[in-house]
Amino acid sequence: MIFYFSATGNSKYVASRISKITGDEIIAIDHCMKDQTLTFNAKENENIGIVVPVFTSALPTIVDDFLTKLKLTRDGKGYNFAVVTYGMNAGAADYYLKKSMENKSLPIDSLFSVKYPDSFAPLFDVSNKKKVQKKVEAAEPKIDFVIDKITNKVSGNFIKGKMPHVLAALIHKVGYTNDRITTKFTVSDSCNGCGICAEKCPTDAIKIKDNTPIWIKSHCVLCMGCLHRCPQNAIQYGNTKKHGQYLNPNITV
Ligand SMILES: Cc1cc2nc3c(=O)[nH]c(=O)nc-3n(C[C@H](O)[C@H](O)[C@H](O)COP(=O)(O)O)c2cc1C
Ligand code: SF4
Ligand code: SF4
Repeated sequence: MIFYFSATGNSKYVASRISKITGDEIIAIDHCMKDQTLTFNAKENENIGIVVPVFTSALPTIVDDFLTKLKLTRDGKGYNFAVVTYGMNAGAADYYLKKSMENKSLPIDSLFSVKYPDSFAPLFDVSNKKKVQKKVEAAEPKIDFVIDKITNKVSGNFIKGKMPHVLAALIHKVGYTNDRITTKFTVSDSCNGCGICAEKCPTDAIKIKDNTPIWIKSHCVLCMGCLHRCPQNAIQYGNTKKHGQYLNPNITV
């Protein structure tokens, strides 16, 4: 079983590529949280995998919450791995993933990272399609590397560009908590009320009222899925309009 969280598709694509080779089922963390499916048991020799993005040098809140609530057991022995997708620096995501799984007495055998276009729209410009495509293509050999290690059940931490967890914790606390305030989102007149943003929001933070989205929670995961997915590019977060939209072209999210 491979648990994944993905807003713009990078982590979902990596999880699906691994799953195609290993035969492991992929399980969406946001769906588990919505219907409170939090108890799983892995059979002997079945892989347990986690594929998630790095958010502000650590993990998205929904992943943290899920891993805290997850009741995961295993019959006998097996191989446990985690992959983080990231744009610039994998922070200390590995530290938090390791800690969560150690708490369940299911230590992670191997950790990997795959670099992708950065979904954090306020800072990163994804409007240059050629540059974006190049980055997406550059991820393929890295995923091949991950699959090779997983199929051979190799142990080790293969994550590059990490940072000390104390520093990551500080960045995460200061940056993420403030940034997750939903009043920072705006909607332009080009919104046609299609409802995709509300339907796909992992934490049901959006509702459609009078044919336009409103944010009904004070804070959200800040996954940027609504902004990147909107067919009208109507959702912005500060000055993001000129930064373009990005969805992994190899998968649907
Ligand atoms: C709120 C937020 C914070 C992010 N913080 C980081 C970060 O600290 N380091 C980094 O390298 N990438 C960061 N990213 C980029 C994502 O980790 C990266 O684009 C990831 O592949 C997105 O995964 P997804 O397509 O599965 O949603 C951030 C993205 C978002 C939305
Ligand atoms: S996805 Fe875009 S167009 Fe559709 S309701 Fe949301 S903001 Fe409006
Ligand atoms: S409101 Fe948008 S950014 Fe926030 S969790 Fe929902 S989809 Fe993600």
